[in-house]
Amino acid sequence: MSTIAIVGAGHVGVVYAAGLAELGHRVKVIDINAKRIAMLKQGRTWFYEPGLPELLARGLARRRITFTMSYSSGLAKARFVFVCVPTPTTAEGSLDDSYLRSAFANIRQHTRAPRPIIVNKSTVPVGTGDVATRLFEGDDIHVVSNPEFLAEGRAVEDFFHPSRIVIGARSRIAGEAVASLYAPLRASVVHTDPVTAELSKLSANAFLATKVSFANVLSRIGESVGADGEGLAKALSLDPRIGAGHLRAGLGFGGSCLPKDLAAIEQLARRFTDSSALFAAVASVNKAQRSRVVDLLIDRFGAIADRRVAILGATFKANTDDLRDSPALALARQLAELHADVVVYDPVAATQLRSVASELKLGRSALAAVKGADATVVATEWPEFASLDLAAVRRAMRGNLLIDARGLFDIDSANRAGLDYFSFSSAGVRAHETEELIPAVAS
Ligand code: UGA
Repeated sequence: MSTIAIVGAGHVGVVYAAGLAELGHRVKVIDINAKRIAMLKQGRTWFYEPGLPELLARGLARRRITFTMSYSSGLAKARFVFVCVPTPTTAEGSLDDSYLRSAFANIRQHTRAPRPIIVNKSTVPVGTGDVATRLFEGDDIHVVSNPEFLAEGRAVEDFFHPSRIVIGARSRIAGEAVASLYAPLRASVVHTDPVTAELSKLSANAFLATKVSFANVLSRIGESVGADGEGLAKALSLDPRIGAGHLRAGLGFGGSCLPKDLAAIEQLARRFTDSSALFAAVASVNKAQRSRVVDLLIDRFGAIADRRVAILGATFKANTDDLRDSPALALARQLAELHADVVVYDPVAATQLRSVASELKLGRSALAAVKGADATVVATEWPEFASLDLAAVRRAMRGNLLIDARGLFDIDSANRAGLDYFSFSSAGVRAHETEELIPAVAS
């Protein structure tokens, strides 16, 4: 078993720390944020991730994980250094690698021969691994690119059951050494060079973003021709070449990864090809998708000023408290700017909402939020929303419009509860007469 230092106690670093400790390694986590380190030392995670507190507690109890703010003590005796720092998007759409450069500089300053292998997990501009290797030239140090594919909300599950482990190394020995850390997981390992590994991360997320935009355009077509979105998604997903993931129509993709990596790929395509329009279209469909609920409300009510709208869910998807680039939060803000009377309820993100969106009214529960509402929008697919009693929702509301932007309910049960139902995946909501379609198809 190895001693591993992890730089960055974020969504990726903490999951890797707890996961690698569970595999038997000794892990030392370094972060410059004193508050986060203090919480983690007590076994408390500073973000919501199902299963992570329990896993962290096991690692701490077995004395396999330590947390520190000091590079020199964190890096001491480490054979591997995992770099898990954030790489946000710059104003031009490329990835900002300043945290990464600072982490590399600190590693260089605080390690001595024999130097550890640096394992980069941060999503980086393509070519970073080789640039970093040059930075350490003459120091006998290897930089291996080993991108993470953890999805928030299921990151622990993804750690223990990876679909693949991608290792980009110029030295086969260094690459094999990194692969050996994950041996107990028995996962498929792709050995390649750093540039390919880095591009594989960006392209996986860009492809997922493309699937989501595809699903959203398809749902609009389906809505107009009277197709059942759910049936359509099932028919597509059973083709193994297409697959089931990321085909749910909804508010569009958000979070800290898909939009960022799509922008980075678009930038590369603009620079090296004449085909960046592909990625620009994915982004533009996503942007338009975000306005659909507002358009629906305006269609329904005319002016929406002073209309009470309940938004159920604020995070960018369920099972996380992450509000970064959240379509649900963007919707709430857009409605508030149009002077609608917006009440938001989220099962886990109330504290974060109070600090980043203090202008919004918060409900204490889903039923409290829908009280007196003219319309209710299900904006995040939290499991607790799926088990809501729709008759109780209807009774609490003033109006009867339910916009189910995450496809949690079906039209029949919503109608039975007295709700006027709209979803992006229900059949025939605005279906044209079939005869009307035929000339259009023939022409
Ligand atoms: C994504 C990838 O799925 C991970 O593999 C990757 O490691 C991670 O980015 C990263 O780069 O770190 P994540 O951003 O946590 O993970 O979330 P996803 O589950 O991919 O969802 C992204 C967005 O797409 C969410 O807003 C979600 O609501 C939306 N989405 C997803 C849909 O609208 N429809 C779907 O069918 C699936």
